[in-house]
Amino acid sequence: MAKGVIVVGSFNVDHVWSVATLPRPGETLAGEYRSGPGGKGFNQAVAAARSGAAVRFACALGDDAGGQLARGLAAADGIELHALDSSAPTGTAGIYVDREGRNSIVIGPGANAMLSAAHVRGLGSCLAEAGVVLAQLESPAEAIREAFALARDHGAVTLLNPAPADAEVPPELWALTDLATPNETEFCTQLQRLRVAADPATVAGLADAELHALCRRLLPHGTVVVTLGAAGCFVSHAPGSLRGDRAACYRQPAPRVDAIDTIGAGDAFNGALAAALALAPGASFAGHAARAVHYAALSTERRGAAAAMPRAHELTGRFGDFSDNDRS
Ligand code: RIB
Ligand code: NA
Repeated sequence: MAKGVIVVGSFNVDHVWSVATLPRPGETLAGEYRSGPGGKGFNQAVAAARSGAAVRFACALGDDAGGQLARGLAAADGIELHALDSSAPTGTAGIYVDREGRNSIVIGPGANAMLSAAHVRGLGSCLAEAGVVLAQLESPAEAIREAFALARDHGAVTLLNPAPADAEVPPELWALTDLATPNETEFCTQLQRLRVAADPATVAGLADAELHALCRRLLPHGTVVVTLGAAGCFVSHAPGSLRGDRAACYRQPAPRVDAIDTIGAGDAFNGALAAALALAPGASFAGHAARAVHYAALSTERRGAAAAMPRAHELTGRFGDFSDNDRS
């Protein structure tokens, strides 16, 4: 039987205002409002589940309407919740999106900040059924570190999405990471912390060899996938660990789509990638990357974060079954 995905991360109620331009200090604007489920952890869990993987989601929720929303939606998507009941309010995010599709986000971590290593340890024997453990940085690093250490004990792949960019990644967490998936900003911010100069505005335009060298600085022992928005992604493997690929580095372009909402596109990519790795661990990584890029592109054609995640049949209905994307 295929192994599943454990996601360790955040749930937020997203409050989203669509505005013509992002508000400046002192400015009051009117915008179209909507709210819905989000949080990088939950978005990724939904993407992995709708991609066909068995998913467990370790998180922390408040005793409030947001917590109820999370429980109901997880059940609807067949996600097994492993939720810490917190006295803090369920996480929230305030999001402004402008006409260009650019956004500004403020997060109220609330209960998410209460996720603990002890709670993660409570996953216990479930870890034996996991092929991939996936985490982001909206939850305390100690909880993620614990999950990755347990994943390593059980032979599961550890996948770190180092988002948001302002979150620190302790060196022990990098050491436990098999695969990292920063976007351009997160990639450059984390490199700058290692005193390696990198500019998010120019990263996508670098020659493959230069980008590969930067990836090797960030995670010398693991695979780095830099997500490049509408340009797809760049994959860089560590020497001797090509994960079924023939090339040590390559680009995976994205299909052209009519994007109307890119909130959660990175989460779509991560959830789909984790599911592909868990469902077909022996297949080439290039095929998984192709699937994840197409999945993320499709998610941008719908409004919302978790709610916008496509189902596996919608992906194949639109783009085929990816069997000829294998480069190995
Ligand atoms: O990645 C998008 C997510 O970031 C949103 O759903 C919001 O909750 C923030 O966590
Ligand atoms: Na979307």
